[in-house]
Amino acid sequence: MALSAPAGQAQLVAGISPTARLHIVSGKGGTGKTTAAAALGLALASLGKKVLLIEVEGRQALAQLFDVPALPYAEQKLATAEHGGQLFGLAIDAEEAMIEYLEMFYNMKRAARGLKKIGAVDFATTLAPGLRDVLLTGKIKESVVRVGDNGRHVYDTVVLDAPPTGRIRQFLSATREVANLTNFGPINRQSEGVVEVLHGTMTQIHLVTLLEEMPVQETVDAVTELQEGGYNLGCVIVNRARPTLIGDNQVGAGGVDQDLLVQGLAKANLPGEFAAGLAAQMVDYAMRQRLQDETKQRLDEVRLPRVELPDLNPPVELGELKDLADRFLKTEA
Ligand SMILES: Nc1ncnc2c1ncn2[C@@H]1O[C@H](COP(=O)(O)OP(=O)(O)OP(=O)(O)O)[C@@H](O)[C@H]1O
Ligand SMILES: [Mg+2]
Repeated sequence: MALSAPAGQAQLVAGISPTARLHIVSGKGGTGKTTAAAALGLALASLGKKVLLIEVEGRQALAQLFDVPALPYAEQKLATAEHGGQLFGLAIDAEEAMIEYLEMFYNMKRAARGLKKIGAVDFATTLAPGLRDVLLTGKIKESVVRVGDNGRHVYDTVVLDAPPTGRIRQFLSATREVANLTNFGPINRQSEGVVEVLHGTMTQIHLVTLLEEMPVQETVDAVTELQEGGYNLGCVIVNRARPTLIGDNQVGAGGVDQDLLVQGLAKANLPGEFAAGLAAQMVDYAMRQRLQDETKQRLDEVRLPRVELPDLNPPVELGELKDLADRFLKTEA
């Protein structure tokens, strides 16, 4: 049974499980997966947890966001947080994961390094794209279940900046396909462990969307598909949500009442000639607001908790990530 936190202490919002050991953040390309994953990682760290933030796309997006040199194939501290929390980052590379894998299960590190030199590892992962996903998810699982000398998990929780919705099913199920192919041996044992982590209750998948037609459609489809696949969905992260600024009667069919605007400007000691420009901006904003409201309704089909992140000035800076992280937290009165 979960005990409620003491008054005044922050807690995670609905849809983000405090006991999940792996949070997978996916969504349509460019909607803010990396930003949201980093913000979620920071939020979890601020509760005093030791968190590992993983990226798998080979783009060094985390290094860029946290303003540090390219991450090597080793965990690196990105930030410290309240209550002794820590955020580490790791960029998983399929080639390195393969070498580590060959060493771990077949004790053949030197041979593997040799294979890398002649380009064989790259060749193998290109030849069988599914193999790449097997290696990446294998390393993710290892990070989730790794236990230190004290017998406790090295990381309290892992956050994955995952591939986009278009590839997420394939990415997550690559290992299950392999497990179906082999009935015994280290590969099978390893893949069973991966399936257990990715499909089990210790993992939650969160989907990032913008309030635009295409991303919302992809989110609706992905939720259905992932739920059918038996995955555990957490929340929908609505990124770059714009506040409602225009009231119902402020922009009519004929546009904005400019006389009223001039009066309002005068009250604020501003020149009346601003009225025309302001009116055009209001009409534009009202239109976007209407579109946003419509797409938001479309998202109502998805019965998952939502977390809204505000629209900031892109690109999001490290200092602003903390504000986004706070959106994953609530404080009990
Ligand atoms: N809430 C926000 N307000 C303003 N800008 C944002 C916000 N969230 C993300 N951005 C900006 O949008 C761009 C894309 O964000 P991000 O890299 O997180 O998306 P992504 O889904 O990871 O993209 P990709 O599919 O390319 O990996 C970045 O420049 C980022 O700074
Ligand atoms: Mg990204």
